[in-house]
Amino acid sequence: MTEGTGQSLAEAVREAASTLAAAGVPSPRVDAELLAEHLLGVGLGRLRALMLGDTPAPEGYQDLIAERARRIPLQHITGVAHFRYLELAVGPGVFIPRPETESVVQLVIDRLQGMAHPKVVDLGTGSGAIAGSIAHEVPDAEVHAVEFSEFAHAWAARNLLPLGVHLIRGDLRDALPGHNGTFDVVVSNPPYIPAEAIPNEPEVALHDPPEALYGGGADGMELPTAAATSAARLLVPGGYFVMEHAEVQAGWIAAMLERSGLWDAVTTHHDLNGKDRATSAVLAGPAA
Ligand SMILES: C[S@@+](CC[C@H](N)C(=O)[O-])C[C@H]1O[C@@H](n2cnc3c(N)ncnc32)[C@H](O)[C@@H]1O
Repeated sequence: MTEGTGQSLAEAVREAASTLAAAGVPSPRVDAELLAEHLLGVGLGRLRALMLGDTPAPEGYQDLIAERARRIPLQHITGVAHFRYLELAVGPGVFIPRPETESVVQLVIDRLQGMAHPKVVDLGTGSGAIAGSIAHEVPDAEVHAVEFSEFAHAWAARNLLPLGVHLIRGDLRDALPGHNGTFDVVVSNPPYIPAEAIPNEPEVALHDPPEALYGGGADGMELPTAAATSAARLLVPGGYFVMEHAEVQAGWIAAMLERSGLWDAVTTHHDLNGKDRATSAVLAGPAA
């Protein structure tokens, strides 16, 4: 039993889950277990085994639960976001990568199959989730990443430099002019939320940086539109562009790409929940 609380691990996790549920945390039991795993340095299987015995609750557990009950994001408390095969360092000032973006990375990886030394750029890299995953899973690729925010750039540097990604601090609208017409793939999860659509969850509204959320303009489409324009500038003819977006923006983005006359094979993609959350297109012209 712990000094101070005298609680067993199993009791502490049970109590923590109800504290988090009362605070409106969407997955209280999972978060209670994850924070215990984090403090004990064990995985779920070992945690469950420890809960069967009279293992005491770890020192500091109540403090972490109190932080989570204040709706501090779990990943800010643990300092880690899991994304595909990576453990990314995250914290205040950087967008926490989301599971649906893993599907966008898969589209890129599928596209890169069989290509020798492909050149890829991630526009608005945040923590570096997309660029880092591509560098990790396609070691032959030359991966570049662009990030505008000073704070996000610092997190990205921590995550991407060990993976050999070429990271620059810049604006996706005019970044990498010396690389125009050279990339095989441009991928982006730009900010895209409309100005008035303030997210409900405190973890997002109060802790994801605003510059990572709001796309600009009443419809949130300024930065997604700019990402498409930059993709057309940066890609080789026949190069592949894929961008994440809100479900409601899918039709608009497909129409914008079609209308420009620059793109072939405009395709909308579902996420794991069957929602239209990404669009890809191929830059018109002879294949690279
Ligand atoms: C929705 S977040 C996505 C982050 C990361 N790619 C991911 O999927 O987890 C958008 C990112 O774009 C960055 N950003 C916003 N405006 C930008 C701009 N004009 N140029 C480059 N990056 C920008 C934000 O700082 C943020 O890191």
